[in-house]
Amino acid sequence: MIEVTNREATPSPSLAELGKASGLEVGCAFSGCVDTRYRCLIAHHCRLVVPEWQLKPRFLRPRRNSAYNFEPCDAIAGFAASNGMAFHGHTLFWHEDPIPWAQGKSFERVKRDYGGFISDVMNHYPQAASWDVFNEIVGEAEPLRDEFLIRNFGLQFVDYCLHLARENAPSARLVINDYNLECGTDWSLAKQDHMLRLLDGLRAMGSPLDSIGIQGHLSSVHKASPKSTIRFIDRLADLGFDVFISELDVNDSTMPANIAVRDREVAAYYEEFLTAVLDRRSVKRIVFWGISDFDNWIVRRQTREKRRSGKARPALFDDQLQPKPAFDAVVRTLESAPPR
Ligand code: G3I
Repeated sequence: MIEVTNREATPSPSLAELGKASGLEVGCAFSGCVDTRYRCLIAHHCRLVVPEWQLKPRFLRPRRNSAYNFEPCDAIAGFAASNGMAFHGHTLFWHEDPIPWAQGKSFERVKRDYGGFISDVMNHYPQAASWDVFNEIVGEAEPLRDEFLIRNFGLQFVDYCLHLARENAPSARLVINDYNLECGTDWSLAKQDHMLRLLDGLRAMGSPLDSIGIQGHLSSVHKASPKSTIRFIDRLADLGFDVFISELDVNDSTMPANIAVRDREVAAYYEEFLTAVLDRRSVKRIVFWGISDFDNWIVRRQTREKRRSGKARPALFDDQLQPKPAFDAVVRTLESAPPR
C-alpha cells in the first residue's frame, strides 16, 4: 500500500530534522498501528522505525515447522520504505522471546538451527540499517544472563552469531542492546562492568560489533544517573563503540497525579538525560520507545512499574497526538546538541 503522509499537517518542528543538524539519527518503536494521523506524526518526526515486537524470534517462528510470520513486520518495513525511513532489526536474540527448537545440545546443531534462523530473517530484510543481534544478555548479579544458549556455549555462540550477521549484512551496524545501564545504583554499575567485560572478550575474539544500545527506559523509581551514563559511554568509546539510546521513555509510575505537574517532571527527566548523553559525539541515535501516549507499552501497562491510579503519560505526545512539555524539552536538547 503506497502511503501518502501529509507532513505539512504536523506543524511542530521535526525532531528528525533537528537531530540531523547535529548528525544524530532520531527514530521510534512502531507497533504497526494503522491510524493515519499517528503515522503522519511518526513520519514527520522520525527517520527510523523499530518494530516493537513483530521481529522477535518466537513471534516470527515459534516452532521448527512453523512458517515464518513475516507479514506483520513486512507491513512496518513497508511503512518505513514508503516514507523514506530507515529500518532497525530488533532483535535476533532475546531470552523473553526464545525459539526453543533452535536450542540444540551440540554447537553444530545450534549453528545449523539458530544460524539458519538468523540468516533467514536478515536476508528477508536486506534493507535493515542495523540489527540488535543480542538483546539483554548481560547479567546484573552474574556477568552473563542465565539462558540456555549463553549458559551452554557462552561467547563462542555470541561470536558465531555476530560473524554470521556481518556475513549476511556487511553494511548494517551490529548492535548489542541492554537496559538498566543508565542508573547510578550499585547493580547498574555492576551491569556496566559486565557489559564492558563482555565487549573486551568479544574484541579479543575479533567479533564484529559496531554499537551498544543503552535502552534508556528512565524511571521515577530507579532514577537515571547522567554522570554514570556518560562515564560508561566514554568507556565504550575508548573500546571503539558508538552508542544508540535505543528505547528512550520515562515511566511516571510514582510521579504526582496532577497532569501539569507530572508532565513537567517527565519533561525534566528527558531534558536532564538527553542533555548529558548528547554531549558525547559517540551517541549517534536516539530511539523513543513510543513517541506518543496514544500507542505505548507503558500506557498498555506492560511494565512491572505501573501507576496505582490514572493513565501513564510517558511519551512526547499525548493520546490525542498533541505535543507535551516533554516534546519541547527534547526539542531544546536537540537544538543545543554539539555536532557528531
Ligand atoms: O496486539 C496484539 C493483540 O492483537 C493480541 O490479541 C495480543 C495477544 O496475543 O497481543 C498483542 O500484541 C502484544 C503487543 O505487545 C501489544 O500489546 C504482543 O503479544 C506482546 O508481545 C507485545 O509486547 C512487547 C514486548 O516487548 C514483548 O515483545 C511490547 O509491545 C514491547 O514494547 C516490549 O518491548 C521491549 C523491547 O523489545 C526490549 N526492551 C524492553 C521493552 C519493554 O519490555
